[in-house]
Amino acid sequence: MNTDLSQQRVNYDTIAHLYDESIRDHAVDENLARFLAARPSFSPVHILDMGCGTGKQLAANRPHFPGALMVGLDLFAGMLRQAQLRCQTVAWVQGDNAAAPFAAGSFHYVTNQFSYPHVQNKRRFFTETVRLLQPDGRFVLTNIDPWSMPGWAIYRYFPAAWALDEQDFLPVERLVAMLEEVGYGRVTFSRRHLAVPTSLADFQAYASARHRTSQFIAMADADYTAGLAAIERERQQCGDTAVIESEVCLLTITAEKL
Ligand SMILES: C[S@@+](CC[C@H](N)C(=O)[O-])C[C@H]1O[C@@H](n2cnc3c(N)ncnc32)[C@H](O)[C@@H]1O
Repeated sequence: MNTDLSQQRVNYDTIAHLYDESIRDHAVDENLARFLAARPSFSPVHILDMGCGTGKQLAANRPHFPGALMVGLDLFAGMLRQAQLRCQTVAWVQGDNAAAPFAAGSFHYVTNQFSYPHVQNKRRFFTETVRLLQPDGRFVLTNIDPWSMPGWAIYRYFPAAWALDEQDFLPVERLVAMLEEVGYGRVTFSRRHLAVPTSLADFQAYASARHRTSQFIAMADADYTAGLAAIERERQQCGDTAVIESEVCLLTITAEKL
């Protein structure tokens, strides 16, 4: 692998041992079940999760798709070590989403969850997904949609997080256009908005553990410290039980290789 890991905003090797908190659990992939129900000829189905992290999605899928060949790809060996401990019946491979070490047409179904913002050359990454899929294959991308969640508490107290996300995430229209440009025949998307009221004290506890989000890790130390200080000031004014409103928007994009 030739990728220079020092160019990454977040070095996931340093937090791999802290990553597996329950807020990051994955349920079995219902999109995959629907996809396979309509394609009985894809047997055994070949599935790839790009930027698989500690392997939670494929491990959740494993018992539900016993015949599937499953591969998880990730840039950081530390994340893959956790994945290997979690599940031994998935092939965990170290590599870059933008230069995946697999032959063309190796997979029927490719996913990417909470990872594309970390890939600097997104067009190359999406081109890789098309190359890796067989005809009638599907790519499903899941992530937050920063443009649809201006009320996210993290942006309120840590404006540097928005400044970074504005660079690293693409608005959905650009994502869809890029996926069409690299060769997908049909691209659709859906958004799910979640209102997340939380007590200021709970939010302060969450934000005080810097590994909790890549935004905290990526921002400068001074920006992170200033955000924590702003929360503390508000907590002293309003009290521990004050409730803050927050919102998150989850985006799912489905791209079909015709
Ligand atoms: C926020 S984690 C998400 C992990 C997992 N998909 C999940 O949902 O729990 C982002 C992951 O993307 C991986 N990653 C970042 N850049 C990558 C790249 N260029 N190629 C492959 N994986 C990458 C990181 O190592 C990390 O494991």
